[in-house]
Amino acid sequence: MRWSLALATLYISLGTPIDSSKRDDTSSPDVCERWAHQAAVVDTTLYIYGGRSRATALQTDNTWNNDFLKLDLSEDFDIASAPIQGLPKPDGPPPVALGYLWNDLTDLYLYGGEFSDTPPASPTAFQLWQYSIKSSTWSVPDTNNGGSIQRAAEGAGVSIPNRGKGYYFGGHLDGYTTQGWSQSVPRLYLTSMVEYDMNSATWTNHTETGASFPERADGVLAFIPWGEEGILLALGGGTNTTFSQLNIIDVFDIKNNKWTKQATSGATPEIRVNACTAVFSAPDNSSHNVYMYGGQNLQPAGEQIQYDDLWILTIPSFTWVQVKTDGQSNPPARAGHTCHAYRGQILVIGGYTGQELSCDTGVYVFDASSLQWQTSFKGGNETGGDSTNIYEPNKNSFYNVPALVVSQIGGGSTGGATVTAPQRTPVADSPLTGTNPDYTYNPNAPQQSPVLVTSTITGSAGVETTVVTETPTNQPSNSGNNSNRGASVGIIVGATVGGVAFVVGALLFLLFLWYKRRVKELRESYEEQQVTQGLVDPEGRPMSMASSGYPATMNHGRSKEDLMEGVEPTFWGMLLQPRRSLRVVNH
Ligand SMILES: *[C@@H]1O[C@H](CO)[C@@H](O)[C@H](O)[C@H]1NC(C)=O
Ligand SMILES: *[C@@H]1O[C@H](CO)[C@@H](O)[C@H](O)[C@H]1NC(C)=O
Ligand SMILES: *[C@@H]1O[C@H](CO)[C@@H](O)[C@H](O)[C@H]1NC(C)=O
Ligand SMILES: *[C@@H]1O[C@H](CO)[C@@H](O)[C@H](O)[C@H]1NC(C)=O
Repeated sequence: MRWSLALATLYISLGTPIDSSKRDDTSSPDVCERWAHQAAVVDTTLYIYGGRSRATALQTDNTWNNDFLKLDLSEDFDIASAPIQGLPKPDGPPPVALGYLWNDLTDLYLYGGEFSDTPPASPTAFQLWQYSIKSSTWSVPDTNNGGSIQRAAEGAGVSIPNRGKGYYFGGHLDGYTTQGWSQSVPRLYLTSMVEYDMNSATWTNHTETGASFPERADGVLAFIPWGEEGILLALGGGTNTTFSQLNIIDVFDIKNNKWTKQATSGATPEIRVNACTAVFSAPDNSSHNVYMYGGQNLQPAGEQIQYDDLWILTIPSFTWVQVKTDGQSNPPARAGHTCHAYRGQILVIGGYTGQELSCDTGVYVFDASSLQWQTSFKGGNETGGDSTNIYEPNKNSFYNVPALVVSQIGGGSTGGATVTAPQRTPVADSPLTGTNPDYTYNPNAPQQSPVLVTSTITGSAGVETTVVTETPTNQPSNSGNNSNRGASVGIIVGATVGGVAFVVGALLFLLFLWYKRRVKELRESYEEQQVTQGLVDPEGRPMSMASSGYPATMNHGRSKEDLMEGVEPTFWGMLLQPRRSLRVVNH
C-alpha cells in the first residue's frame, strides 16, 4: 500500500503517465478515518475521490490517496455498515486533498487540491480531470481560457449541476499546489472566484469583481436558487491570521458576477474553517435553509478543536438559529468532512476527528426536517427538490421546514414564510433587495403546521428558549422593517391625493420620528458591524479579526468597510428612496 503510493507519487512527480496495466487495483473502502476528500452526488450515487485517509489510528504519514469510491443512495442502509464500494484507482488524476469534485448530470470534474506534505510530494502541472460516469473513464478535457487558472487548494467549491457550472472560491497556492514553487515560498491566499462552465469547457476567474474582504481559505460555498440565476454564499474560513466572522455573509450574485455583503440576525456561530453545508428549499421557495455542520477552530495555533454544532441560516431572512442536538447520538466533532442533501437528509461523509487513537465510520445521517441524527439512511431513486443544488419543482419534496425555522420566519412546514426579505436591510446593489423573486406571501394560503419537534433556540442575548411546537400560521411572526415602511409611504400617498393637509402633517411628523430612529439604528448597527467585523474594538481602536495576539492584517486595501460614507441620509432621501439612503457601501 505504502509502496504503491510512493511509486504513484514518484511517477506523478516525474510527470510520466502511469501505465494502467500496473494500476488496476481497486480502491479500498475500509479505512480507519477519511477526511479532506472530494465528493459529489450524481443522480442516485455518491462519488468520493481522494483526500486523506489512515488505515490505522496510528498512521501519520502517507495519508494522501487517490481512492475512488461510490455509495448507492437508491436503497436504505444502516450508517454503521454503509455499502461504500471501491472503484478502480484512477490512473492520471493526482492524489490531492481539499480540492473540489464538481458535477453536472453526467460527469465529475476534479479541480484543485494539495499534494502530500508528509512525505513531501511535488505537484504536477495543473490539469482539470473529467470522469464520464457512462464510460467509467477519466480524461483531461480541452478547456478554453485555462491558461491563467492555477491549482488552488483549501478553497470552497460548489456545483450547479443542472446548469453545468462549477465554482471555487478562495483557497491558496503554495509549494504543494503549484508546480515549480519551492516550499520556502510563502503561502499565497486568494480571493478568486473561479468558474468552470462544463457545457462549453470554459474557465472564468472573477477575482477583480468587487471582493471587499481579505483573502480566504477553508470556507464553504452554498448555492441558493434565488431569482433567475441564483446566489452563492461564502461562509467562514480565513487565512493564518484572519478569520471571517459569520455575522456578515459575502454574497456572490451569479447573474452580475458581483460580490455584496449581507448582515445576519440571531446568535452568530463561532468563526471556523472546514465546516460543511447542505441546502434545503421549502417546497414553495419561501425559504432556503443552509445547514452548517462542524468545522474547526484554528485558534490558538496548535490547539485546534473540532466542532460538532449544527446551525441553520435561513434565507432570505438571513437569521442564524442553532439546532440543539443534546441527548441525541451525535457523531464525534469533525472538520474536513462533506455534507450532501438527499431526500430531506444530510449525508455526512468522513471528517477529521482529532489525534485521539480511534477510528470513525465516517457516514452519518441527519434528518433536516425533524432535526434528529439517524441510525439509517432512507434511500430512493427520486430526489425531489432537495437533491444537492438541483431544483426540480414538479417532484415531491422530501423536506419540511422545521419548527425551529418556522419560529423565526413564520408559515408552516410546507413554507408560506411571512418573512420575505433579510431582517437586516440589504445594501442597495444587493440581489436581496426587494422581496423573494420566486415567492409572494399570501396571508390566506392554508398552512400545514410544522413538524412536531421541541427545539431549543439560543436568543441573541444567549438566552435559551424552548420553541413551541405549533406556531400560529397566519400571523406574521416578524413583519420586518420593509413592510412597515411600505405601508407608511402608501398612506402618505393616499392622504395627499385626498388633500387632507392635517393628516399629511401628522404623518410627516411621525415619519420624521421614524427617520430619526432609523438613523440612530443604522448608526448603532454600523458601529456593531465594525466591532463584529473586527475593524475596531468596542472602544473604537482598530484590531485584527483573529483578535488573539496576531498583528492587525486588515490592511489589504480591499478590506475597508464604510457605511453611508460618514454621511447621514437626508429625511427626504430616505422617504422617497428608502433603500438607497439606507445603503451600506462596500468598496
Ligand atoms: C485568479 O486571478 C487572480 C488575479 O489574476 C490570480 O491571482 C489568482 O491566482 C487566480 N486564481 C486561480 C485559482 O487561478
Ligand atoms: C501567515 O502566512 C504568511 C504567508 O505565508 C506569512 O508570511 C506569515 O508570516 C504568516 N503569519 C503567521 C502569524 O503565521
Ligand atoms: C422555485 O424557484 C425555482 C427557481 O429557482 C422555480 O423553477 C420554481 O418554479 C419555483 N417553485 C415555486 C413553487 O414557485
Ligand atoms: C431504483 O432504480 C433501480 C434501477 O432503475 C431499480 O433497480 C431499483 O429497484 C429502484 N429502487 C427503488 C427503491 O425504487
